[in-house]
Amino acid sequence: MIAISKTEKQTTLSGIKPSGPLHIGNYLGALRQFVAMQNVYHCYFFVADLHSLTEPYEPKEKTAQILDLTASFLAAGLDPKKSTIFLQSFIPEHTELAWIFSTITPVPELERMTQYKDMAKRKGFTVNTGLLTYPVFMAVDILIYKSTIIPVGDDQDQHLEITRTIARNFNRRFGETFPEPKPLHTAVPRLMSLDNPLRKMSKSEPAGCIFLNDQPAVIEQKIKRAVTDTAPPKAGEMSPGVANLFQLLQEFSSEETVKKFRRAYEDGSIRYSELKPVLAKDIIKGLKPFQKKYATLIEQPKKLMSVLESGSSKARKVAQNTLQEVKHKIGLPT
Ligand code: ADP
Ligand code: TRP
Repeated sequence: MIAISKTEKQTTLSGIKPSGPLHIGNYLGALRQFVAMQNVYHCYFFVADLHSLTEPYEPKEKTAQILDLTASFLAAGLDPKKSTIFLQSFIPEHTELAWIFSTITPVPELERMTQYKDMAKRKGFTVNTGLLTYPVFMAVDILIYKSTIIPVGDDQDQHLEITRTIARNFNRRFGETFPEPKPLHTAVPRLMSLDNPLRKMSKSEPAGCIFLNDQPAVIEQKIKRAVTDTAPPKAGEMSPGVANLFQLLQEFSSEETVKKFRRAYEDGSIRYSELKPVLAKDIIKGLKPFQKKYATLIEQPKKLMSVLESGSSKARKVAQNTLQEVKHKIGLPT
């Protein structure tokens, strides 16, 4: 976990798309950092439902996905009394500012985004305009609250670079308005997939992914099948699969357990058939408190929706102020 300086109260913000259950990569790389920040910063955490529309989805399932993510936020420890927790689509000012930002964002900046290029390459998938303009919309999410610290996994770094470019372009043309935000990474900015440790763990590849709500038997199976020796290790380096398992040990197991297996690795006596059940047991134990709270929360859809409604009405006031300021600066009547 990253140490947080208490010297200045800055604004932190992050969002996650409601497009399926969260996994331990989301938790270790982003969500747990949200929780750690809420005692220190002005915090905004939101459900990025508008962003999630850029991917294929079933309309009937969207509200359930929104509630699932909200329950996960709360089960992980986000507290509506400390953080403003909101739903992106409840704040129409985001969409309005996105249009304005799109007029100061060069298309080539968007076309060079890795995430966009990867999507555009997918077979049988026509890339939509929303995927191209995704980073403009993300810049709005961040800048409309004048946020400066953005806790995310390292796959979002390029998007934050564009956010800074948009802030600079705006400030240069219309006068100093937006601070330039920075990403904040945890000790695990990129957890790798268990069955393909050369790729990041992602819900789009569920076999290599441990979901926060996976049952014990499923976790045992996934860890048991985890690849340990895909690529030949570089001299003096662990192979990616083994390094990933050690990363997980570091996060879920006791110091003593980590030391024991590290020593065994170093003296060549390690057996992954011994390490894996220990790791699986520790992950199962580590996820239990989350799972218990989630099970209670998900039974209370009205409460979850009211958390989003009251957070959104707080956030909206700030968004409205920024939009007024922007309109004034760019020469539109307010
Ligand atoms: P997914 O790739 O599973 O669809 P998202 O894109 O919804 O995950 O990511 C939500 C948040 O979790 C983002 O901040 C992202 O950077 C972070 N994240 C996603 N996958 C990982 C991972 N494997 N390791 C660390 N952080 C991750
Ligand atoms: N792009 C992020 C993801 O795919 C989600 C997101 C949308 C976000 N807007 C944001 C993250 C603003 C941080 C800040 O996970």
